[in-house]
Amino acid sequence: MRISIVLGTRPEIIKFSPIVHECERHGLDCFILHTGQHYSYNMDRVFFEQLELPEAKHNLDVGSGTHAEQTGKMLMGIEKVLLEEKPSVVLVEGDTNTVLAGALAAVKLHIKVGHVEAGLRSYDWEMPEEINRVLTDQCSDLLFAPTEKSRRILLGEGISEEKTFVTGNTVVDAVYQNLEISKRKVNVLGRLGLYPKDFFLVTVHRQENVDDRERFRGIVEGLEMIEERFGLPVVYPVHPRAEKQMEAFGIESKGLRLIDPLDYLSFLQLESSARLVLTDSGGVQEETCVLGVPCVTLRYNTERPETLDVGSNVLAGADPAVIVEKSELMLGKRNAWANPFGDGRAGERIVQILRNKFD
Ligand code: UD1
Ligand code: UDP
Repeated sequence: MRISIVLGTRPEIIKFSPIVHECERHGLDCFILHTGQHYSYNMDRVFFEQLELPEAKHNLDVGSGTHAEQTGKMLMGIEKVLLEEKPSVVLVEGDTNTVLAGALAAVKLHIKVGHVEAGLRSYDWEMPEEINRVLTDQCSDLLFAPTEKSRRILLGEGISEEKTFVTGNTVVDAVYQNLEISKRKVNVLGRLGLYPKDFFLVTVHRQENVDDRERFRGIVEGLEMIEERFGLPVVYPVHPRAEKQMEAFGIESKGLRLIDPLDYLSFLQLESSARLVLTDSGGVQEETCVLGVPCVTLRYNTERPETLDVGSNVLAGADPAVIVEKSELMLGKRNAWANPFGDGRAGERIVQILRNKFD
């Protein structure tokens, strides 16, 4: 069996790390094909170094562009590598353009596709991620659903039962494998002069939020109101897309502590110590749920409804007054929910399923 792991962005590198390490543990023939969708040091290389991942065997250096440009270049590059390498299976994880390109290039070459994090749905067709999810699931031969809920969604869309597996989400594996290390190895709290449970942490980068001037302004205003109301620092590691849009829209922020994107261990330390996290990130909604930290999601929907069901997360959208109201609500919550995303052994399960099928 030869496994090709196709990845290209920050969350894919982090969430694939448990699978890569599990493949290494079994001495499997596995290589990384990096599309180069993310390429800045702090969005890419830092995670390979910190998570001790092997170098990508191929890097397509596709970089940024419109959706069609980016996806088209990836398709051409991935096809070429797959024809040369002839893997038994291509693995993709999540919902980025890299994921769709990897799945589509492979299925057209009749190479089996495994989709990790299958069956998530926001039912919001305006989101590029939703289009990528639905199409990737349709292309896939093995659908690794993180929860029973996501598996049922797949079955409801006509995907056959034999193709679906409930494995948990590898985000839990990554958190469990790195939380202690993050406490030992980094001191971002000290570096930023922060105290545990005495600050708010923010991430905002989604296209529907930061590419829309009014929406982005509304979110920044809501965050500034929180800083004033609760008198705690609001720390925001700014994703490069958000940085670019802030500049383009002339959005300035008085109260927020804007910092560069963080490495994973530092981010995990901040996230696990925050009083409350406000985000539009998929991975951060999951991680806060695993870490027992309350989360306010700056969106009107989520493809992670399990977090709403257990009460770790609430939707606030982009209206400043609602952001304040929902933050207040979450600050009063007891953080005693059960993590619905698995036991931290999703990577093991996925690799075992692959070995049963292809070895
Ligand atoms: C992508 C994913 C999104 C995911 C996010 C994770 C798609 C459609 N979107 O969004 O689902 O949540 O990654 O972080 O695939 N840029 C840099 N350096 C980089 C990468 C990007 O400066 O290393 C800047 C460029 O100005 C670029 C912009 O960020 O134009 C957006 O990058 P892009 O890859 O198009 O999408 P993301 O917003 O990162
Ligand atoms: N993350 C990080 N540094 C940061 C912000 C986030 O390492 O400054 C990690 C976070 O722990 C999570 C992942 O990046 O594992 C989430 O990625 P992102 O929000 O970019 O994408 P999404 O999950 O929304 O697709």
